[in-house]
Amino acid sequence: MKVSLKNIGKKYEGRENFTIRNINLEIEDKEFCAILGPSGCGKSTLLRMIAGLNSITEGELIFGDKLMNKVAPKDRDIAMVFQSYALYPHLTVYDNMAFALKMKKERKEVIHQRVLEAAEVLQITEYLYSKPSDISGGQRQRVALGRAMVRKPGVFLMDEPLSNLDAKLREHMRVELVRLHKQLGTTSIYVTHDQTEAMTMADKIVLLDKGIIQQFGKPEEFYNKPSNLFVAGFIGSPTMNVFNGVIENGKFVSDSKAIVVEPNETDKEALRPYEGKKVSMGIRAERFISKKEDKNSFNAMIDVIEMLGKEKLLYTVLEDGTECTMSVPGHYEYDTDQAHNFTFDLDALHFFDGETTKRIN
Ligand SMILES: Nc1ncnc2c1ncn2[C@@H]1O[C@H](COP(=O)(O)OP(=O)(O)O)[C@@H](O)[C@H]1O
Ligand SMILES: [Mg+2]
Repeated sequence: MKVSLKNIGKKYEGRENFTIRNINLEIEDKEFCAILGPSGCGKSTLLRMIAGLNSITEGELIFGDKLMNKVAPKDRDIAMVFQSYALYPHLTVYDNMAFALKMKKERKEVIHQRVLEAAEVLQITEYLYSKPSDISGGQRQRVALGRAMVRKPGVFLMDEPLSNLDAKLREHMRVELVRLHKQLGTTSIYVTHDQTEAMTMADKIVLLDKGIIQQFGKPEEFYNKPSNLFVAGFIGSPTMNVFNGVIENGKFVSDSKAIVVEPNETDKEALRPYEGKKVSMGIRAERFISKKEDKNSFNAMIDVIEMLGKEKLLYTVLEDGTECTMSVPGHYEYDTDQAHNFTFDLDALHFFDGETTKRIN
């Protein structure tokens, strides 16, 4: 089912400002959409509005072509999975999963078939007659998913469902959830503060900050064309390197003049209106070219080396004291406390307006 949000806003009673402002989104049928952002930015508020657990202050929420603003949660054809997935401790896995359907007075045979089906997909068939206390955290989380799945909702809503799991299990469940989504094809809206989860799982990401959409699009668009400095800093690990400076004679000159770069022709063209103005230049750690000298190269002292296996992270300090992180293949040899020449891959520079922080190129 397609989910559309038109100018959605939320102001909690007793609060001075809107928590959510001007949200316009189209989540296509069968799409997996992640709502991403720092803690407190309004992710859960937005999801709860879609679920009907929070009222909508302004705007329109549309499922398919039906206005949902005033429809009760139970009539919205949704199922929700939370971070804390309280299962009934005295019921078996089977009965936990069957619970909602029993409440709906669904036929016994239908319930049985749906529970078996979901258990099969989630690979928990052998635990159907265990109690929640007898199974692991990951298995419990699957039961919580199963409980939502058996209802065959039009839209799946998930609020940080993996946050309580340890790192290894979280990685595993990430893949499982994607696989599950592929199998079921149910439109899914997934809240997370973890950019890796959003980047790896979602077809589309909406990144919120302070209740406002910063960018909406595909994961690769977030990585390759962040729409402003906030997005650039939020997406990607290590964090994108950002230098502040001005455009002088078409070149980027950092404030301390430690970096002077002549951009490629396309960027130069985009930067023409910025002659004499403040801009920020960003570059990801893996887009430096090491041990090479050209007209744009600069000297960096290697402070700390982090060996991650396939790559090495070089934490360096430039002549003016600016810190800069580079990623090089893991088999490259470097020593700490040595200076090296680096230069830029000119096709990998991001430029942002110094005033508005919006992307320029
Ligand atoms: N019921 C409520 N009443 C008033 N303010 C709330 C309520 N729920 C959340 N908030 C506020 O709304 C903001 C966003 O919260 P939330 O949606 O939970 O953020 P997130 O899920 O992104 O961490 C926070 O400042 C929070 O304190
Ligand atoms: Mg939340």
